Amino acid sequence: MRERQRFRAHAGQSRLLLRTEERHPVLYTEGLDPEGGPVYGERVLARDGRLLRHWEPHRSKLGAALAKQAEPTLPGVGETWLYLGAATGTTVSHVADLVGPRGAVLAVERSVRPFARLLALAERYPNVLPLLADARRPEEYAGDVATADGLYADVAQPDQVEIVLENARLFLGPSRPVVLALKTASLGRGPEPRAYLEAASRALAEGGLEVDSATALEPFHRRHFLVGATATARLFGGGAAGGSASATPGLGRAARRR
Ligand SMILES: C[S@@+](CC[C@H](N)C(=O)[O-])C[C@H]1O[C@@H](n2cnc3c(N)ncnc32)[C@H](O)[C@@H]1O
Repeated sequence: MRERQRFRAHAGQSRLLLRTEERHPVLYTEGLDPEGGPVYGERVLARDGRLLRHWEPHRSKLGAALAKQAEPTLPGVGETWLYLGAATGTTVSHVADLVGPRGAVLAVERSVRPFARLLALAERYPNVLPLLADARRPEEYAGDVATADGLYADVAQPDQVEIVLENARLFLGPSRPVVLALKTASLGRGPEPRAYLEAASRALAEGGLEVDSATALEPFHRRHFLVGATATARLFGGGAAGGSASATPGLGRAARRR
């Protein structure tokens, strides 16, 4: 009974529940499958016929950002989100919980090994559509995506900004949200994380995304930020996406090409 009273629904997302007495808010998503168990070994609770799944901040950059009280635009109930870098589906499963049974997660992953586990997840989660494809070649999945209400990206690649801009340009409309788990340059090479974030934010803005927020994910994920952005009309104005990123120093493939 006491456990019951400690939860509250997130202000903008009814399928996200929080407990706030701890050092960081503790997050749960309402599991899509009330009869199912955990997806990746996370704690689960049964409550009023619902299954609540603990969103482990150490296992998910979006979960970490929310635990740090960031406020990116979250996938809404009934929405369709394009997800780049799905891996085995840890964060995908929570995003699928958020969009609920009438929404969809179009989950792109290019590596076969994690993709096998993503397929297994999709058997339990009918609102997840796994797409074995390279996010640098969106034409490979354009036939399955059409348009999306939002874009989440966690590819951890040097050209992550270009990948995001190109996919946003192809699949989002103006004012649609983009959430990017940004891996900064590491191992002492390239710019420091803050400088990398600033360069990436400039490249996103020049490409046509308005950057709304950036949250450092320490202590959960070193050298990562969660960046929230919004598509502007300029993204669709022709020629801005991708090319602008390549003009920004320190941003991986694009910069090295110069
Ligand atoms: C950091 S992991 C993603 C973790 C996952 N988002 C989660 O939170 O559960 C990055 C993933 O992106 C995938 N990836 C990297 N480059 C990619 C590309 N160009 N297209 C599609 N997937 C890619 C990798 O294979 C890897 O599984």
